[in-house]
Amino acid sequence: MNNAQTSRVFSGIQPTGNLTLGNYLGAVKRFVEMQNSGIETIYCMVDLHAITTWQNPSELKAATRELAAGFIASGLDPEKSILFNQSQVGAHSELGWVFNCIARMGWLNRMTQFKDKAGKNRENASVGLFAYPTLMAADILVYHATHVPVGEDQKQHLELTRDIATKFNNDFDVNFFPITEPVIEGVATRVMSLRDGTKKMSKSDASDMSRINLTDSAELISKKIKKAKTDPDPLPSEVEGLNNRPEAKNLVNIYSGLSGLSPQVILSENGGRDFSKFKPDLAELAVSILTPISNEMTHLMKEPDQIDKILGNGAAKAAKIANPILEQTYDIVGLIRSK
Ligand code: TYM
Repeated sequence: MNNAQTSRVFSGIQPTGNLTLGNYLGAVKRFVEMQNSGIETIYCMVDLHAITTWQNPSELKAATRELAAGFIASGLDPEKSILFNQSQVGAHSELGWVFNCIARMGWLNRMTQFKDKAGKNRENASVGLFAYPTLMAADILVYHATHVPVGEDQKQHLELTRDIATKFNNDFDVNFFPITEPVIEGVATRVMSLRDGTKKMSKSDASDMSRINLTDSAELISKKIKKAKTDPDPLPSEVEGLNNRPEAKNLVNIYSGLSGLSPQVILSENGGRDFSKFKPDLAELAVSILTPISNEMTHLMKEPDQIDKILGNGAAKAAKIANPILEQTYDIVGLIRSK
């Protein structure tokens, strides 16, 4: 069997907590660019992944709607991209089960995200948290997606997705699942904490000052940037001067991600300036980009029924692509499907 593959982009974000500047620069902004380049794009709120750790049910619903609002406010257009929440398309879970039977325990045991999230209390982690990457592989492969834009931290999961596709194709002697390309590009694929330039900016960090949330007010964004940790030296004029200066590098990369200017152009213009001068410029830039998004989110969130309708329509479109691929998978594996 040979499935001629056309380009199809898939990516997902967990509806847990706020969207951060890391999610925005590392993922959502790039989702929008891909949508506008005319490729078929499918973006998902992965609510089934969210429940691998316990979520308050009403907060999960609110967070899913807020994430949808964040997607749309950032420029994702439900007419151009398929936007939906994972649990509304059953094919993800069904293919996830098949992949549980393809992936090996040893592969999942090596996943660093599981080790980080389960921590010392591994025995008490949910089975879902352990199997998380097989569902992620199913999210992607149930659409035969060829390209997956993500931040750096998802690289290992995407390698596993390739391993699963390869093993499936080999086990059943087919050329059915594509070997997906991760798209981890640009300066902002790993936005770091504002309090510690060696740690990733994360929605789960205990300190809210470590991250910028898309819903933060203009005042709070400015405050967080002005209080961001830096070293005492002025900005260098060359990119090499950022080596071993993680906090300085992070702020320059954030400026770059927001402005679209390369780090070198930014440093050519700002080399020799103190951070006390650079930070207000960065804060102004961040506010000018994030505040309109945040305002639009607030506006959209006033009509939750409208959001649910968009997600429902998106799910119907997604299922149309996913269901035939799932059916073919079942057939390949040897499961009877009565017509
Ligand atoms: P999640 O929800 O943790 O993050 C969503 C996206 O944001 C990126 N990201 C960052 N990028 C740059 N700097 C940061 N500090 C930063 N923090 C987060 C992530 O790399 C990701 O692209 N497992 C995924 C969700 C998922 C998925 C999928 C992704 C489920 N199925 C299928 C792609 C395809 C996750 O937990 O992302």
